[in-house]
Amino acid sequence: MAFELPDELKFITNSRLPQKHTAAGLDGKICLITGATSGVGYQGAIYLARAGARIVMIARSAEKAEALSEEIRSISGVRADYRIADFTRLGEVRSAVESVLAAYPKIHILINSAGVHFTHRTLTEAGYETVFCVNHLASFLITRLMLDRMIDSAPSRIIQVNSEGHRFNGLNVNDLNWEKRPYIGLGGYGAAKTAQLLTMWEFNDMLKGTGVTINAMHPGAVRSNIGNNNGAFYRFYLHKILWHFLKEPEIAGDALHYLSASPELAETSGKFFNLTNEEVPAPHAMNRTLGKFVFEISDKMTNYPGGK
Ligand SMILES: NC(=O)c1ccc[n+]([C@@H]2O[C@H](COP(=O)([O-])OP(=O)(O)OC[C@H]3O[C@@H](n4cnc5c(N)ncnc54)[C@H](OP(=O)(O)O)[C@@H]3O)[C@@H](O)[C@H]2O)c1
Repeated sequence: MAFELPDELKFITNSRLPQKHTAAGLDGKICLITGATSGVGYQGAIYLARAGARIVMIARSAEKAEALSEEIRSISGVRADYRIADFTRLGEVRSAVESVLAAYPKIHILINSAGVHFTHRTLTEAGYETVFCVNHLASFLITRLMLDRMIDSAPSRIIQVNSEGHRFNGLNVNDLNWEKRPYIGLGGYGAAKTAQLLTMWEFNDMLKGTGVTINAMHPGAVRSNIGNNNGAFYRFYLHKILWHFLKEPEIAGDALHYLSASPELAETSGKFFNLTNEEVPAPHAMNRTLGKFVFEISDKMTNYPGGK
């Protein structure tokens, strides 16, 4: 009998599985995407624009958003629209979403791809650990604020760009800002990705019967700019050593197109994908009791429904 890995370890071999593709078009669909100015999100925006979707992005750099907007115009003939927000400032995130809501009666696809990895602890102006704020709280707030619009636009799809890094865990609800523990970069990253997964199961329950699906994906281990903020030594390690083991980021864009458009996923919701293959997340990220608690904390930390 051939040896088979237990479900929670299958991610080790899943990255070698063949990927699924779709030729499904997205004409008439509007996609709101974050993190589109680089890496995974950039590829996602390009692939979706090629498939015919109109792209609206929330980016922190107007210069990069402007350049991408023009690039997308050269692909689809329509400029991508954008709003500016730094995801370390949740008030800016809220304003950007409100502006999108005011301008777009329908949004059919929401892709939360913006993310960071820090090897050292940093805090936002509000005192939140930065990776938790950018990777989890901002995507949580955007999803929360967009929920009714996604329902009004059904059939619609939400995709959380998560990571196999959730397996590093690091989530301690009594120490979200790492005041009581020495900061570990992979732990901080794992905490944010775990929180995003835990809250996704809650969103999935809220969306049952609405025609809106929500899924999470690991976008592959691909060449991108993530981690470039961690100094020259880390950049050397990333670009001279790790780079050789990473794949081309196009596979992530292709996978985002598949998850956004493929007819066979029309009813699929509340799943975790390793690129395009469904996978079992780590047990700690499926703790529904903890998830309900993290959802409540995330509401409080993002001041939802709140004001500015
Ligand atoms: N690359 C991988 O192998 C890999 C593996 C697993 C998961 N992921 C996930 O994939 C997602 C995208 O990462 P990536 O690899 O594409 O990294 P990337 O190339 O560094 O892209 C990150 C994107 O997030 C944006 N961003 C970062 N901080 C922000 C902030 N404070 N406010 C607003 N936007 C901000 C960046 O904007 P700028 O262009 O202005 O910097 C960029 O558009 C992340 O969620 C990451 O955790 C990546």
